[in-house]
Amino acid sequence: MPSSVRVTAPGKINLHLAVGPRDQSGYHPLATVFQAIDLADDIVVRTSSELTLTMLGTDLPADESNLAVRAARLLARYADVPATADITIHKRIPVAGGMAGGSADAAGTLVALDALWGLNLTATELQELGIKLGADVPFCLLGGTALGVERGDALTPLLARGRYTWIVIAQEAGLSTPLVFEHFDRTHPFPSCPEVDDRFLRAIAQGDTKYVAGMARNDLAESCVELHPGARAALEACAAFGLPALVSGSGPTVVALADDDVAADVCPYVEEYVPGGTCLVAHGPVSGAHVVG
Ligand code: C5P
Repeated sequence: MPSSVRVTAPGKINLHLAVGPRDQSGYHPLATVFQAIDLADDIVVRTSSELTLTMLGTDLPADESNLAVRAARLLARYADVPATADITIHKRIPVAGGMAGGSADAAGTLVALDALWGLNLTATELQELGIKLGADVPFCLLGGTALGVERGDALTPLLARGRYTWIVIAQEAGLSTPLVFEHFDRTHPFPSCPEVDDRFLRAIAQGDTKYVAGMARNDLAESCVELHPGARAALEACAAFGLPALVSGSGPTVVALADDDVAADVCPYVEEYVPGGTCLVAHGPVSGAHVVG
């Protein structure tokens, strides 16, 4: 068995996010298309006699509330092994940004500890554990491009051609996902049944990246910009530069499709428009959380 394992845990964006009415469990039925992108957290786990977590590049708490610790404990219980490892997470995915940063860490921790502890769980077993940790965790395990229904955790991998270059505009201050959903409930008392139209799925399959980015729909976008002026500024900046842009998940991160050769050059100009915004370049789709090195 290895004494250490390194995993890359990609964040996600939503190319489509249709939201239905909140159900009795407090969740909303979704029809969403996820894409995993190469803006990823780096996770290293090492053998140890106890369970510790070190978070680098963020002031997020590294205690029992952290989804990575909860993932470790859940996996240990399921496999009936001691929950012992030193986990180090180098955070790159924006925190509370709508990119499933916490879920990526949970998915990455499951994959890393499965390897460290020599468990060899199946993808289905990991998915079932993932569902217990959060609605986005199953996709963070799967990666690529996938349709998500129910809570967004019932996944179908999609045929997807093409490579997308995204300008990612992250914000200094994040947004709470439950808060955005609550705002959506207040402002959309009668949402329709969430769907994705066939033409959009065909464009994904054909690799028509411009159509996909131009037609991307996010039912939470309006709530996001009402709650976060930075997200509105980011969308306006992208419009000013003629870049098709979308809010990722519940936001406030905004991503815009750009030509590969100019994306990095555009970033400083976009940043000027967005106080508290940081711009970087990422690509998708990529694989889900996996062991590297
Ligand atoms: O599953 P997770 O803990 O990531 O979800 C965070 C919150 O987002 C939930 O507590 C809920 O308020 C909201 N949510 C929702 N409907 C979904 C997914 C998440 O209302 N399908």
